[in-house]
Amino acid sequence: MTTDTVEEQKTEALTGDSMYEWLGGEKAIKDLVNRFYDIMESDESLKSIRDMHKEDLSPMRLSLFEFLSGWLGGPPLFIERNGSPCLTSAHEPFKINPEARDMWMKCINQAMVDVDIDEKFRDMLTPAFERMTEMMRNSS
Ligand code: HEM
Repeated sequence: MTTDTVEEQKTEALTGDSMYEWLGGEKAIKDLVNRFYDIMESDESLKSIRDMHKEDLSPMRLSLFEFLSGWLGGPPLFIERNGSPCLTSAHEPFKINPEARDMWMKCINQAMVDVDIDEKFRDMLTPAFERMTEMMRNSS
């Protein structure tokens, strides 16, 4: 049986790669992170989590990009720079309750739509981000 149709070739092309590559690599992840913090900065309903962050969000734009790069199967930039992939301790100083967790999810879900991440990838990433945000939750 041949795999000559475009759909079959696309499916085959996906199997050997990582989510990092499927999404479009470095530029796509940077676009996602930048959109994420643009939303956090501009949406008044997210003010309480925005205010947890330092006034200058540029270091976070870099940190989240570096973290997601490795988490999505690309270059492990965050571990290379920080030595540890553990994020829970970095979040301990902040009160992260279910409301804060859901705001973070609102922000990433909207950012994924805005940068045109394909629905089939969003459907895979949303539950993975939900597990991650629940891990960061440290308050009820
Ligand atoms: C559950 C809701 C979350 C809240 C409210 C939250 C909030 C924060 C805050 C306030 C900081 C410090 C910011 C600053 O220094 O300006 C931070 C750091 C960070 N967050 Fe989150 N975060 C959440 C979830 C996540 C998730 C799910 C990820 C990863 C997918 C993530 C990745 C990071 C990274 C990489 C850093 C930098 C850590 C470091 O430099 O050591 N956060 N977060």
